[in-house]
Amino acid sequence: MDLKNQILTDIENASSLQGLEDVRVAAFGKKGAITELMKDLGSKTPEERREMGAAFNILKQELTDALDTRKQMLEEADLTARLTTETLDVSLPPRPVASGKIHPLSSVMDQIIHIFGGMGFTVAEGPDIEEDFYNFTALNVPAEHPAREMQDTFYLPPGATEQPYVLRTHTSPVQIRTMLKGEPPIRIIAPGRTFRSDYDATHTPMFHQVEGIVVDKHTHMGHLKGCLEEFCRLFFEDPALKLRFRPSYFPFTEPSAEVDIQWKGDKWLEILGCGMVHPNVLRNCNIDPDVYQGFAFGMGIERITMLKYGIEDLRLFFESDLRWLNHYGFSVDARE
Ligand code: DAH
Repeated sequence: MDLKNQILTDIENASSLQGLEDVRVAAFGKKGAITELMKDLGSKTPEERREMGAAFNILKQELTDALDTRKQMLEEADLTARLTTETLDVSLPPRPVASGKIHPLSSVMDQIIHIFGGMGFTVAEGPDIEEDFYNFTALNVPAEHPAREMQDTFYLPPGATEQPYVLRTHTSPVQIRTMLKGEPPIRIIAPGRTFRSDYDATHTPMFHQVEGIVVDKHTHMGHLKGCLEEFCRLFFEDPALKLRFRPSYFPFTEPSAEVDIQWKGDKWLEILGCGMVHPNVLRNCNIDPDVYQGFAFGMGIERITMLKYGIEDLRLFFESDLRWLNHYGFSVDARE
């Protein structure tokens, strides 16, 4: 019993988890006092063994309980001590170790919003998963119209929804959503993701476009030209940049044009499609084409980003290669 009291006192006096572990080992370890006593049992008669064995079990249980209780207490005390000493000041500035970069596309989208914002445009949005009606029909592309073949559309599996849904092939459906929601005058841009089933050095199945539309009583082609010229000169940081408007065809505009910019003196590179909003499109949005006219344009964001920053392969935009991101990304400070 002396031994038991001694061990209980030692447990009570243990002031650290390590100290308590030492007490446990001194009692129950390979050469521990209790272990040694148990070994003696072998030399006793069966009756003695039964009696002493039972007593040992009780003793063992009592000591184990005492050890557990003390351990829990010490652990709690330890945690309380750590919580009071290890405080974290979340208001401290971060250490300048690994600094993140802004993806070139994010930066260019900010630049686009900034430039058009300066001309009075606000930003509108629409869903990536779009109803066939907004992506095609309302844009003067009825079912079976050959213009549907111009874009490699991702259709959602039939039966998943009541009416056909597509991954929007362009940002033009946002024109429709905006016109149906509000009254002219309208002046918005809609940057966002677009999808087409295509993949090579200049095409990825997901890419970005920015759409723009202006609808007012006296809007004409001169406004369209001036607006796009202003944008391109500011974006490419060249006040003398030359633009060329080539006649083209889009079902949602009449007349339609494609715009090229003069690049490095000798080349003309196509960067966007545009035109005067087709009267049918205005009518589809309950706007009277005898009162209002509009111009619209759609531009590939990767394309102008590649030109401005000399990026050769479109696919690398979406590889998440840290070396590429570090090279072409923008440091956060540089944007301020
Ligand atoms: N949606 C066209 C495309 O993806 C681009 C475009 C052309 C948009 C003319 C327009 C427009 O708003 O007026 O190829």
